[in-house]
Amino acid sequence: MEMRRLLVLFALLSVTAVVPVLFSRNKNGDPAEVVVVAPPFNASGVTVISWKPRIFLYKGFLSDDECDHLVKLGKEKMKRSMVADNESGKSVMSEVRTSSGMFLDKQQDTVVSTIEERIAAWTLLPEENAENIQILRYEHGQRYDPHFDYFHDKVNQLQGGHRYATVLMYLSTVEKGGETVFPNAEGWESQLKDDSFSDCAKKGLAVKAVKGDAVLFFNLQADGTPDPLSLHGSCSVIEGEKWSSPKWIHVRSYDDPSSMKQSEECSDLSENCAAWAASGECNNNAVYMIGTKDSPGQCQKSCNACSL
Ligand SMILES: *[C@@H]1O[C@H](CO)[C@@H](O)[C@H](O)[C@H]1NC(C)=O
Ligand SMILES: *[C@@H]1O[C@H](CO)[C@@H](O)[C@H](O)[C@H]1NC(C)=O
Repeated sequence: MEMRRLLVLFALLSVTAVVPVLFSRNKNGDPAEVVVVAPPFNASGVTVISWKPRIFLYKGFLSDDECDHLVKLGKEKMKRSMVADNESGKSVMSEVRTSSGMFLDKQQDTVVSTIEERIAAWTLLPEENAENIQILRYEHGQRYDPHFDYFHDKVNQLQGGHRYATVLMYLSTVEKGGETVFPNAEGWESQLKDDSFSDCAKKGLAVKAVKGDAVLFFNLQADGTPDPLSLHGSCSVIEGEKWSSPKWIHVRSYDDPSSMKQSEECSDLSENCAAWAASGECNNNAVYMIGTKDSPGQCQKSCNACSL
C-alpha cells in the first residue's frame, strides 16, 4: 500500500518533470526512500568567489533530500565503525572517529551516482579521477586548521597524482562558525563581513556552511604546480553541527592502477620546478632536474622530459 502510494507520487512527478525523484533502496531491502534530487548542473547557479586561488560557489548544488541522504549514509557507517571499536576493546577511539570522516563507496546508490555525475559536469573532470565522497561531522568546537589539499610527499601522489580540485559540499547549515576560510586568498580583506561571521572567518576569505551549497576550488595552478593560495581551513563550530562532504579530484585516474606507474615516472616533485625550469635549470642542472629513466630527477614534468 505504502509502496503503491510512492509509485503514484513518482509517476506524477515524472510526468510533470518539475521535481526529479530517485528511489534509494538500502541493502537490507527496507522500503524505498524517496529522494528529491537537485536539477542537473546549471552554470547559472555558479558564482566566482576568487580567482587567486580559483574558488567557485554553487548555491543549491544539492537538494535538501540529497543532503539528508548523505548524512544518513555517513551516520550508518560511523555507527558501524564505533561498534567495531567496541568489539576490539578500543572504545576510547570512538570519539575521535566520530569527528573524523568516513568514505562512501563510489556509485553506492542511485543518489550518490547522480551527485557524482553532477560533480563531473561542474568540474569538467572525469569521475574516475575522483576519490570516493567523504562525509565529515564537526561538532561543537571542532575545526580543521588551515592546510593544503595537495601533497608534499611523493607516496601520496602515486594514486592519481596531486589533488587538483576539491568540491566541498555542505550538508547542514551551521548557525555560527564552521565557515570555510581561505587565509591566503588575494584581496580577502575587502570581503564584507557582519557579525554573523565568526572571528576565525574574519582572517581570510570565508564561505558560510549553508545546506545544499558547494564550493569548488583548485589546489593546483593552471600549469599543474601547487597553488599555495589554496590554503584553507574549517573554522570552529560555535553553534549547531556541521556536516560536510569533500570530493577530491586528482590530475589523473584515481581508479585505474596503471596510472600509478605514470605518476611515479613523470611528475614534478617540488613546488619550485616551474620556476627552476624557467630559469634554465633543466639544461644547467640536468642530473638533478631530469635524471635518468632509472633515477628520475625532481622536475621531469616541467622539463618536458616525460618520455625518457
Ligand atoms: C538554469 O538556471 C536558470 C536560472 O535559474 C534558468 O533560467 C535556466 O532555465 C536554467 N537552465 C536549465 C537548462 O535548466
Ligand atoms: C560496548 O562495550 C561495553 C563494555 O565494554 C558493553 O557493555 C556494551 O554492550 C558494548 N556495546 C556494544 C554496542 O557492543
